[in-house]
Amino acid sequence: MKCFLIKLLRAVLHLLGKKDKIRIGILISGRGSNMEAIIKGCKNGTINGKVVIVISDNPNAKGLEIAKSYGIKALYIYPGKYKTKLEEEREWEYVKVLKHHCVDIVVMAGFMRIIKKPLLSSFENRIINIHPSLLPKYPGLETHKRVLENKEKEHGCTVHFANEVIDGGKIIMQAKVKVLPTDTQESLAEKVLKKEHQILVKTLSMISNGKISYETLKEPIVYEPDDKIL
Ligand code: GRF
Repeated sequence: MKCFLIKLLRAVLHLLGKKDKIRIGILISGRGSNMEAIIKGCKNGTINGKVVIVISDNPNAKGLEIAKSYGIKALYIYPGKYKTKLEEEREWEYVKVLKHHCVDIVVMAGFMRIIKKPLLSSFENRIINIHPSLLPKYPGLETHKRVLENKEKEHGCTVHFANEVIDGGKIIMQAKVKVLPTDTQESLAEKVLKKEHQILVKTLSMISNGKISYETLKEPIVYEPDDKIL
């Protein structure tokens, strides 16, 4: 019923030439700095959206408290017995809660589990993920360590649509950082994280303002250091 009323309101706004805020659901596993960047982007109007629900697979995720401090509903949902994926029944529970909040787009913001059919089929091409590497290079974990071991000259981060391949969906936006001889895993992580926040906010800004969608995106967008958000 709630989602029906939201659709109705949107149809009316559309007739008036206005666009309603998109409803964002965020999945997190820990610290929640990417999530907080999104919340701030919504609050300052950069993103034409509203974070309506935050879900974590980790009851101790710091991000849950951060979300609550902004007055956003934030829940731990038991992920099941596996370490790297959600148990199928549990994944349906995640879907149920996201649907209950009439979510338009799901953001995996440091969500450390593989998602499968329940989420992917329920939110087809409407789930995005932030990954700390220049995909297709370095999917998976410990990206900063591997970049240093391979003596790469550049590194960065990627926002992409999620699909059934780990870190493998259509790339939306990337930002690069230089790898300096003095860099450590920690310094790289810090530099890349700043860029993660920027490209996530810019991606959601563009999606929420109707500038890009899965269907219309032809090639990855390169985020420039002096890029304005829109
Ligand atoms: C980020 O580096 C993200 O790319 C990776 O995990 C980290 C999460 O950070 N998958 P936070 O929870 O958003 O602070």
